[in-house]
Amino acid sequence: MFSEEIIQKIKEENDIVDIVSEVVTLKKTGKNYLGRCPFHNEKTPSFTVSSEKQIYKCFGCGEAGNVISFVMKTRNMAFPEAVKLLGEKVGIVVDDADSPGKSSAANEKFKRMYNINIQAARYFYTNLKRFKAPYEYLKGRGITDETIKKFGIGFALDNWQGIRSYLKQRGFSEEEILELGLTTKNEKGNIYDRFRNRIIFPVFNVSGRVIGFGGRVLDDSKPKYLNSPETPIFHKGTNLYGLNLAIKNNPARTVIMVEGYMDVISLSQQGVTNVVATLGTALTEGQCKLLKRYIDTVIVSFDSDVAGENATIRGLEILQKSGFDLKILQIPSGKDPDEFIRSFGKEKFLNLVDGALPIIDFKLRMAEKGIDFSKQEMVIKYLKRVVNVLKDLDPLEKAVYIKQVSEKSGIGEEAIMESLDKNPNKSIQNNKNHNINRKFGQKLYLEPGFVRAERTVLSLALDKRLSDKIFSNVSEDDLILKAHKVIYTIIKENNMCSKEELIKIINLQTMQDSEFTKEWIKIQEYKVDIDEGSIDKMVSDCVNNIKKYKLEESRKKIMDKIRKCESEGLVEETLMLARELMDIQKEMGKL
Ligand code: UTP
Ligand code: MN
Repeated sequence: MFSEEIIQKIKEENDIVDIVSEVVTLKKTGKNYLGRCPFHNEKTPSFTVSSEKQIYKCFGCGEAGNVISFVMKTRNMAFPEAVKLLGEKVGIVVDDADSPGKSSAANEKFKRMYNINIQAARYFYTNLKRFKAPYEYLKGRGITDETIKKFGIGFALDNWQGIRSYLKQRGFSEEEILELGLTTKNEKGNIYDRFRNRIIFPVFNVSGRVIGFGGRVLDDSKPKYLNSPETPIFHKGTNLYGLNLAIKNNPARTVIMVEGYMDVISLSQQGVTNVVATLGTALTEGQCKLLKRYIDTVIVSFDSDVAGENATIRGLEILQKSGFDLKILQIPSGKDPDEFIRSFGKEKFLNLVDGALPIIDFKLRMAEKGIDFSKQEMVIKYLKRVVNVLKDLDPLEKAVYIKQVSEKSGIGEEAIMESLDKNPNKSIQNNKNHNINRKFGQKLYLEPGFVRAERTVLSLALDKRLSDKIFSNVSEDDLILKAHKVIYTIIKENNMCSKEELIKIINLQTMQDSEFTKEWIKIQEYKVDIDEGSIDKMVSDCVNNIKKYKLEESRKKIMDKIRKCESEGLVEETLMLARELMDIQKEMGKL
């Protein structure tokens, strides 16, 4: 495992305000920073970051944590991954505990690869300014200097030995350069630059490292784009162009998915920054998995000519299966997003985004393609397509769409319903369950009483003058929250330590789990007014509060069972349950 010192150092050197700012726009308010919570949907900011304490808390949904748990949660990473990522950011290399086989030599090799790519990107970037043609080309396409810099756009000379000799001079080996695909080898064994006389787009991974390159010709020659091949650090199926930028300041967790590098760049220049593109290949599940860490809604943009092609339909299916809210944006007049926004401006483009169709509406519209509604056999064909589109929806959604389809086709709603019933839905679950946790309302988050009662117990247990009293009155089994049980046990087991030591131990033992971290931070932040005289009452109130909650829960369970047994006519069982219920009510009465 990582050493304590390393973790401490990584925490110290990564300011939580910086790390949170990558995802949330923060404003300074007094001592703290305030922004819109990335863990739930809200209009008015209630997400607070304390630079002094290096923690965050949300008053809207109750989330809390430190820099590591923030990365774990927002990027859906396990503890070691998050520590590694934060380490990389501040130049601390941590040993990979998960793969002890991965030697530091391998580590060294990867570091060199990233370094070569950075050097190459710099070389291309400097070239761009030195040569007129590529620079003029970009200017001609409306690209500003600022954008060139932001995306690191460069130029590969019309030269067979440009990047090759440049990198060799800097001490990199032939094999290394070749392995990254910056050079290529022909049948005769000659090695030369892969990218020649092309505009170069460095491809960044989600943490902003250069992993590969795309190169575009300056004219109409073919191939229009040439990309780096797959390399040990460039995997086209698990990266998306623009993602590192698209996840910044994106509380709505929405991206527009376009087809080309130039679309991402051009939209970004116009202020539409939540845009990603695939890397010249069809969308993969790997890309969806990556995207899912940061994004809930994907608006897929199609150039009007390609909608309906198999690859696009397949892409939509993969996105849907991955649980995204999906919308389809069709760009009119045969343009791609870059051309559209340059011709009509940002506002018109955003109007298109607002009008993007939910996937079902889009599919229904596609089903109309080539259908002449005055011809019977065509209407039947249409309805068959419709059934395919609607069969997996839940009943409510079905009802809404059936009405639409009925109006369109002139076929009665019942008839459509009936043919749908013959195709029972297999996957009602399909688009449920995601993004539930971002839909807490806007209200202040109120915790159940027992949570606060447990927190009070834990705060008191941390107080050396009171701990013994707590230990003799409360067992960890009395507590409900798992995190509380764990922390309480640690406190009891380390009773001999000083408070400072104890806090350190709890820090260490909770940090790998973002839920434990959250509850631990909340305990530390919790202020209990201790009135020495009434400690006994305070403790017994807390214990009763927790007990009451437990009893209430069992009461609900039994009520459910009773209802079920009654409806099934199980008289005997019902009576037994009723007795249990009475016992519980008696217990509750005592509290
Ligand atoms: P487009 O031809 O739509 O790209 O291809 P674009 O970004 O609009 O290019 P411009 O506006 O003509 O400069 C979409 C994407 O498909 C990949 C590239 O990733 C490109 O961005 N592609 C395209 C290739 O990999 N090779 C090609 O020959 C063409
Ligand atoms: Mn284009």
